[in-house]
Amino acid sequence: MKRLLLFILPILIIVAIVFSIFGIMQIRFTQEKLMDDLQKKAKAVDESLEFSARLILANNDLKSANRLVESFQKRERLQGCVIYDKEGNILSITERFSDWKIKEKPYLKDILINKTARGALENFKDYSVYSYIIPVIDDENNTLGMVEVIYDTSYVFTTMSDLWRRLSISLITLLVLIVLTMLLIQRRIFILPIINLTEWFQHFQKGETETAHPIKGKDELGKLASEVEQVALSLRIARKVVSEKATERLQKDELWTEAKLRDLIHARLGENALFVVSNREPYMHVIDAITGQPKCIRPASGVVTAIDPIMRACGGTWIGHGSGNADRRFVNSKDKLGVPPGDNRYILKRVWLSKEEEEGYYYGFANEGLWPLCHMTHTRPVFRESDWKMYQKVNQKFADSVLAELPAKDPFAFIQDYHFTLLAKMIKEKRPDVKIALFWHIPWPNPEVFSTCPYQKQILEGMLASDLIGFHVQSHCNNFLETANKLLESRVDTEKFSIVRFGKETFVRPFPISVDGYLNQSSQNLDLAKEIDRIKKEFELEGKIVAIGVDRIDYTKGLLERMLAVDRFIEKNPQYKNKFVFIQLAAPSRTHIKHYHDLMNEIDELVEKKNWKYSEGNWRPIIYLKKHFSPEEIMPYYALADICIVSSLHDGMNLVAKEYVASKTNLNGILILSRFTGAARELIDSVLINPYAIEEFSDAIKSAVEMPLEEKKKRMQNMRKIVSENNVYRWAGSIITELTALKKA
Ligand code: F6P
Repeated sequence: MKRLLLFILPILIIVAIVFSIFGIMQIRFTQEKLMDDLQKKAKAVDESLEFSARLILANNDLKSANRLVESFQKRERLQGCVIYDKEGNILSITERFSDWKIKEKPYLKDILINKTARGALENFKDYSVYSYIIPVIDDENNTLGMVEVIYDTSYVFTTMSDLWRRLSISLITLLVLIVLTMLLIQRRIFILPIINLTEWFQHFQKGETETAHPIKGKDELGKLASEVEQVALSLRIARKVVSEKATERLQKDELWTEAKLRDLIHARLGENALFVVSNREPYMHVIDAITGQPKCIRPASGVVTAIDPIMRACGGTWIGHGSGNADRRFVNSKDKLGVPPGDNRYILKRVWLSKEEEEGYYYGFANEGLWPLCHMTHTRPVFRESDWKMYQKVNQKFADSVLAELPAKDPFAFIQDYHFTLLAKMIKEKRPDVKIALFWHIPWPNPEVFSTCPYQKQILEGMLASDLIGFHVQSHCNNFLETANKLLESRVDTEKFSIVRFGKETFVRPFPISVDGYLNQSSQNLDLAKEIDRIKKEFELEGKIVAIGVDRIDYTKGLLERMLAVDRFIEKNPQYKNKFVFIQLAAPSRTHIKHYHDLMNEIDELVEKKNWKYSEGNWRPIIYLKKHFSPEEIMPYYALADICIVSSLHDGMNLVAKEYVASKTNLNGILILSRFTGAARELIDSVLINPYAIEEFSDAIKSAVEMPLEEKKKRMQNMRKIVSENNVYRWAGSIITELTALKKA
């Protein structure tokens, strides 16, 4: 629009100026001509009046004067005639113009003395008149009096304003015609070809690569179009080559790495990129409260921890909620940006939600409804109809955003978590050809618990539009199959582990999520060693046994139980006073929800109470660091910690447990792990606990503290083997292999 204005405005201004100059000249000319005609007419009439008035004035014949005046007043546009005597007094005047008597006329004396005629425009009452006066002179050159004719000039001004109006209308019509013509020309010459080229390129991007570009001419636009076509062609060839080479490399059976996953994706998805959808975005731009400047953070989220390395390795597009307060500043016109910032390995597309949408969909339905419904922590789920409506609306918003990106052929979408139970169905309604995998990052409850959800049918139907549904562990899969069997009209195939509803088959599989398994590499790094020294100095940790907890502040994480167990451990083993420190890194989470808010206060109070109970000099048993920590900031804590405590009351997997194991290169560390996490199925060499049983939990801390180094190393080695073999690349590789295999079936 701005560009269009820049193009049209100068032309309009020039046309308007030229037209106005000619218009003004035309008006002036017309006005002069009309006045000239008027003057000539007034002069002629006045002269004939003078001739008749000469005898009347010589005889001072008032009666004849009145008759003469009466006979002249009938002339066209003549307002009045006046006959003056030689003193300048009115002898006779047209009756309808009798008010003319009251007007001051200082010029009369001059006319009588100088014996010259006078014509001038005069204002009288509300209008303008033209007065022409000539002296009446006898044969001896004596002034007998004067005669005056007064003409109406309003017709001159009416004619002028008519002319003005006609000229203005012509100017406006001309300008409108110019604008319309310009718009038509520019649409025909520039816009239409660009629209066609853009559409062609969008289709090319989505995989419709067969058609040639639509610009026929060999002009500048034609040249641009063929350049774009060349780039697109090379891109297509490059993708094909990558895909073929990747298939060759995949034949070799080796440990899952970034490179192997990249090969798998290129081999299986071909030219198509991977599309991931999650509520939480992997990179968030927020305003730093201290500096006031925007900064980029990685949110504390299992989804982000697991999927970011995959996307870094394979590229593709991740669609997530742009929830950072500075997010809008960093996206392009399509709400996209390259991430990680500065490295640009994949595309992040941000979807914007209003406060109401976020409140109802995220805080309300997802986190006050589905989250407690799926976690066995004795927290009642809250289901509000208004939240459900918002949840549906936001799922549709994400579906539209995904649909806008999907390639034309063989698209794959990988949906994350309980925020998007309806997404698969909404996508398939428009694009039934899309292959969809949904991964459920939290536990799935048993059918009795799930049946308390008022929207159970819609949720299950929405999920079953997916081709593949993944859970962390087999028992969550079993719960889901049973739920579908009991609550929905469907057939569960226990051989194939699938659910068939109205002819559509959905496969259900366990895919235990993990971390990249190579966190250890960074522990060699010098900065890390420096950071460990700094932390040890700051918290006086030298010579002490350090246990660590890393969590979002969430009631499922068993944070209160953990503090109580630490308290009980010191209470029962006072010899560890001054020797044992528990550091909790706690990221505030979902703080708008009352339950979370109350929990934060409860933990603050408990930490305060327990530290006060044991305070001796500077030593405190619990160091509670309540803030968001980046993965880089967490790393030195993992490295220095002798023990890591994960005490979730219920958890789908828990990646902190796996991150700790992956980071322990020197094997000197032990993991205390809740039996109620998915990770407990794999990390059986951890010290397993029931976080509700505080006595048992505190004893587990003691046995971890006192565990001989050899045993710790052996256990850690076993766990590291499991984590590095079953790393996140394997997790993603298995899901993609399974999904693409379904496609061929
Ligand atoms: O798996 C559950 C999950 O959605 C994970 O992304 C993550 O562990 C956590 O919840 C993050 O929660 P939020 O995105 O609400 O901060």
